[in-house]
Amino acid sequence: GWLRYAPLPADLLQGAASTPTAIVVLNSTDSSPISIAAREVQKGLQGIFGKNLDILQPSAARNGSHVVLGTLSAYNTGWGNLNVSNLAPDGYFLSVRRGSVSIVGRNERGVLYGAFAYLSRIAQGNFGDAQFVSNPDAPIRWVNEWDNLDGTIERGYAGPSIFFSEGTVVKNLTRVSQYARLLASLGINGLIPHNVNANPSILSDENIDGLGRIADVMRPYGVQLGISINFASPKSLGGLNTFDPLDPAVIEWWNNRTKALYKRVPDLGGFIVKANSEGQPGPLTYNRTLADGANLFARAVKPYGGIIMFRAFVYDRFADWTVWKADRANAAVDFFKDLDGKFLDNVVVQIKYGPIDFQVREPVSPLFANIPKTAVAMELQVTQEYLGQQSHFVYIPPMWKEILDFDMRVNNKSSTVRDIVGGRVFGQKLGGYAGVVNVGTNTSWLGHHLSMSNLYGYGRLAWNPKQDAQDLLQEWIRLTFGFDKTVLDTITRIGMESWPTYENYTGNLGIQTLTDILYTHYGPNPASQDNNGWGQWTRATTTHIGMDRTVKNGTGNAGQYPPEVATMYENIETTPDNLILWFHHVPYKQRLKSGKTVIQHFYDAHYDGAANTQTFAPAWENLRGKIDQQRFDEVLFRLRYQAGHSIVWRDAICNFYHNLSGIPDEAGRVGKH
Ligand code: GCU
Repeated sequence: GWLRYAPLPADLLQGAASTPTAIVVLNSTDSSPISIAAREVQKGLQGIFGKNLDILQPSAARNGSHVVLGTLSAYNTGWGNLNVSNLAPDGYFLSVRRGSVSIVGRNERGVLYGAFAYLSRIAQGNFGDAQFVSNPDAPIRWVNEWDNLDGTIERGYAGPSIFFSEGTVVKNLTRVSQYARLLASLGINGLIPHNVNANPSILSDENIDGLGRIADVMRPYGVQLGISINFASPKSLGGLNTFDPLDPAVIEWWNNRTKALYKRVPDLGGFIVKANSEGQPGPLTYNRTLADGANLFARAVKPYGGIIMFRAFVYDRFADWTVWKADRANAAVDFFKDLDGKFLDNVVVQIKYGPIDFQVREPVSPLFANIPKTAVAMELQVTQEYLGQQSHFVYIPPMWKEILDFDMRVNNKSSTVRDIVGGRVFGQKLGGYAGVVNVGTNTSWLGHHLSMSNLYGYGRLAWNPKQDAQDLLQEWIRLTFGFDKTVLDTITRIGMESWPTYENYTGNLGIQTLTDILYTHYGPNPASQDNNGWGQWTRATTTHIGMDRTVKNGTGNAGQYPPEVATMYENIETTPDNLILWFHHVPYKQRLKSGKTVIQHFYDAHYDGAANTQTFAPAWENLRGKIDQQRFDEVLFRLRYQAGHSIVWRDAICNFYHNLSGIPDEAGRVGKH
């Protein structure tokens, strides 16, 4: 990962006028986040400066330049007098005065986060003085892993699970501890190891103990364990004849299991629930509401301080394609809007960023503006399910930023999505982010070395969603590959061009990614979108394409947004080109604002995208000798593959729509063969 602490090049080292001489720990207990922080600083300074610093108790501190680590209360009782009233939970204060460094957290986690922030600065050659407070934007900064108990990973592209094998938790959790370290360095404070399509056996006694071992390994890094549960467990695991959330025996069953969980993991974060979605059981089976289902768990974990992440990804996968007004994109608001105010206060509704499913381009989910009385979290996908599954490289933060910076205009006032998620628009205390990561046992964690920039970007944005996507990429490059200017420029260019390029050679103008959607979610298969119950429709005919989501003539989806945004999407003239086919059903010869027709845009974008992808591998080849051979070779292999596959994509999509519409390519490229 990015925690390499590589020695700095000599010219940068000169900038370090004086370096610390010892590490002082104000309130250490063994294996707490603070002692991890101290050891991390020790390791970092050893790697970067080649200096081995002692870790001292305050009483043993001699004169010199210290790195002082402690919570605010320990600092002010035993060391100094610091007045930082604006320090939030998990936040830190960092002061660097030449070699003297103070790292003060509101809580122990904050100290660890401050230590990583300090190390990140010097690992990037930044020795300037600094004094600032950094607080997380939101309390929930979790990752979800979709690992199955048998060791496979749903939508995982980097080998088998680091958590599970053969039905239970693996014995050797070394990789889990390394992963927790990576996550802590980004400020991630929660992890759910088990697939949202949950196996009821996760709650067996043996597995509860295994989960306890996972929690024990992550705790020193401040990463709380959360658990994904299967709604039908009282029946399938517990042997009851019902899983009705209002049945007293069911409630008792959950209370007992919850008690057993908290006995083994007293600081368990809570549960995540995927209910009544894609064949999963849920409260609707018993004509109970989704809120009844969520509150069942909310009550069970409440006495222990737990929370429930209740997923809004609820839709009917047998939708009727013949119904013009049917629309999967409406499902979340249809299901949740009327439940606003009915969820207990420890329920957080976890909403995918777009209304459908992690496509290359979606508008933000309208649900974020529709449940003001409910805490919400945004679900982002680090694993590149629809984005080339780590065989292609797509740097995703620029896409996330467009979503986060989007202004929903709630009550005709500025209300960015990041402000909604951060709780500032509707005054919610809980809220935040869930990133679906799906790391595996592959030593690169994600299968493609460059894809780690997405995990890095996710964590940093969850801490502060205002940050710039290119700045984050460059931080990651310096920490991961060093300081060579060609390396920085090359990976920056490939990274920043990768999402628009991928969009060009896959699905354009908001038509969705156009992968096969029935099985693999990989490779081109535009025909798979339509004529089935999955609802990822494009409604492509011989003359027209796009979903009519207008209120006046279509599914009404545009009307789920606050009025100003609704008006923008309702109107074809004000809908941005890049979402035109998401909201409108138009002739292939419809003119875009760019002046091109829809079909010609398809052809041109695919040729441009595939052509640009051909430039990535040769650019990477210029880095030979500037980075280590193994990562050089492995990335080159994948970039070459991506170049070839982008041509497959180009030809498949262009030929498909050429055959369907019969409209020639103005440049004469399509349909020649
Ligand atoms: C996607 C994905 C599934 C996953 C689902 C979810 O549809 O393909 O594998 O289970 O999302 O988020 O629940």
